[in-house]
Amino acid sequence: MAAEIISGKDLAHELRLEMNQKVSELNDRGIYPKLSVILVGDNPASKSYVNGKKKACKETGILSDVIEMDSDTTETQLLQQIEILNEDPSVHGILVQLPLPKQIREQKVIDTISYEKDVDGFHPINIGRMMTGEDAFLPCTPFGIITMLKSKNIPIAGKHAVVVGRSNIVGKPVGQLLLNEHATVTYCHSRTSNLQQLTQQADILIAAVGKVNAIRAEHIKEGAVVIDVGINRLEDGSLTGDVDFEAAKEKASYITPVPRGVGPMTITMLLENTIKAAKGLA
Ligand code: GUN
Repeated sequence: MAAEIISGKDLAHELRLEMNQKVSELNDRGIYPKLSVILVGDNPASKSYVNGKKKACKETGILSDVIEMDSDTTETQLLQQIEILNEDPSVHGILVQLPLPKQIREQKVIDTISYEKDVDGFHPINIGRMMTGEDAFLPCTPFGIITMLKSKNIPIAGKHAVVVGRSNIVGKPVGQLLLNEHATVTYCHSRTSNLQQLTQQADILIAAVGKVNAIRAEHIKEGAVVIDVGINRLEDGSLTGDVDFEAAKEKASYITPVPRGVGPMTITMLLENTIKAAKGLA
């Protein structure tokens, strides 16, 4: 049976309409949620992501500003800029677009952002709180994935979730959030020797590898829920995920497409986190 396609685009649209309402309510109370984004250098992919974030903020009524810094910015200069935003009461969320030029240590930058403004959910305090299940800013892509599963009432508790990929931004935290929802979680990665044997056991399969066709029909159990986090650009300029979508959709019960799957949800959860920061809930 062909899988039901989970449209991140449609869900993102629905959620953003609700957020619009929340932002107007905050505005009525004199609170104007604001996201500050720092973009260092001129990486074209980063520029395009930052533009997407700016546009999404505008549509939702969230204020945003983008601080552009030269590619030869020093770590000290960047940390000083972050401190200014940490101290600015009109700024609720701070996002430093990654990757950063090589002279700057990413972890040092993440550690410097006030955890109360860390709408990326990358600060060690937020990661720690996520692990213990306390209130925290959750990293946007994993948060978006859980929101997609819940929107379709897909059961997570007691299910076997297999995460392929172990990045700090996606793989590790999505496994933790699935565990928090009482799934049994297996992590696979580039050194996993029996990948297919493990993915074939997945009720929920998360592909966060960054490689075209890394997950094919033979990796998927009949009826599995397949979430494709990959964003890979093909030579013709089009985008594709990590999953062989055409083959996978014949075996899966639910599947996310690329584009219009997880991608639009990532930005949506950033907006959600910015509203949360403005409410001062962290
Ligand atoms: N670069 C790629 N994804 C992300 C993200 O989620 N947050 C930030 N800050 N940079 C990124």
